[in-house]
Amino acid sequence: MKPQALADKTLPILPLLACPLCGEPFSLPCFSLTNAPPPNSHSLICTHNHCFDLSRKGYINLAPSHSQQADNYHASLFECRRQLFQQGFYAPVMQAIGDAIAAYAPTNQPFAVLDAGCGEGSYPCQIANRFPQARVIGLDLSRDAITAAAKLSANMPTTNKPAIGMPAINQSATAESTVTKPATANPTTAKYHPNHPHWLIGNINRLPIRSNSLSFLLNILTPADYAEFSRVLRKDGILIKVIPGKDYLAEVRACISSQLQNDEYENERVFKHLQSHAALLERQSLRHTYTVTPEQAALFARMTPMTTHLSMEELECISFSQITIHLELVICNI
Ligand SMILES: C[S@@+](CC[C@H](N)C(=O)[O-])C[C@H]1O[C@@H](n2cnc3c(N)ncnc32)[C@H](O)[C@@H]1O
Ligand SMILES: [Zn+2]
Repeated sequence: MKPQALADKTLPILPLLACPLCGEPFSLPCFSLTNAPPPNSHSLICTHNHCFDLSRKGYINLAPSHSQQADNYHASLFECRRQLFQQGFYAPVMQAIGDAIAAYAPTNQPFAVLDAGCGEGSYPCQIANRFPQARVIGLDLSRDAITAAAKLSANMPTTNKPAIGMPAINQSATAESTVTKPATANPTTAKYHPNHPHWLIGNINRLPIRSNSLSFLLNILTPADYAEFSRVLRKDGILIKVIPGKDYLAEVRACISSQLQNDEYENERVFKHLQSHAALLERQSLRHTYTVTPEQAALFARMTPMTTHLSMEELECISFSQITIHLELVICNI
């Protein structure tokens, strides 16, 4: 993306951003009224002169002092996740998140959504597509994740043409356990809106976002910092957190149980910690079992941080013919 195009795209979210070093607002000097272009014409500059360049790859790096690599996450893991999203395995949770936003969104008003720990970007792309009135930001500490996310949204069309890399929404998803085939992308009928998400490299523990500015914060299978989440959400803002259910990827766990510290996953501790910081509005359990091909099983084996320590030979030994996606969606005020 040309720096000027990224600067144009960034302007509408400028009021939402804050310097991660000092918390002050940013300006984009290329938009000042002086005639001569300033030296940092494609950088965000805060009132204390901390400066962050806009990347040609379509994101802004607002985590300068970090390694930009969350432990256990790498480019091939994000690529496997992208393919599984595209094949529709996570369509029910995508649908449920979108429905929660629709239920709590302010009527006829623009609103801001942050996906904190967005990975390869499929959720922000879907939300931006479904809610043209929303400013949608995806943030992740991993440069690999945000690079993949910016690429994914670059392939979102600016007209109603089919999108590349966009997962389909399974309209008939229910919260019951079923053995079924996932919804597949339907590029001939899907309608896509040109509302593209904004991408930030940033840390959940020090969000580069102004206080009291967001209507929704998504936190999907990602670590949380509830004090930060409470700071950036408006008083009436909604936190949508997705945590693994007890049977999430049970078939992968079963294959590597001897290598896991706890082969039975228990999410009650995570849920209790959340409850001690937030007022619960709704909790939904989404549990689906899908049949999978050997190729899809290999993608599942490689898309989870549970297996990042395994050798290639060990990964190749993982095989199963069905997979359970069991997730809990928790909607709260914080
Ligand atoms: C299991 S992945 C989930 C990604 C995405 N939400 C999804 O469901 O596909 C967890 C993500 O959290 C990110 N992450 C971990 N620690 C983080 C931090 N302190 N700040 C921002 N992102 C972080 C990782 O880079 C990774 O992309
Ligand atoms: Zn600053």
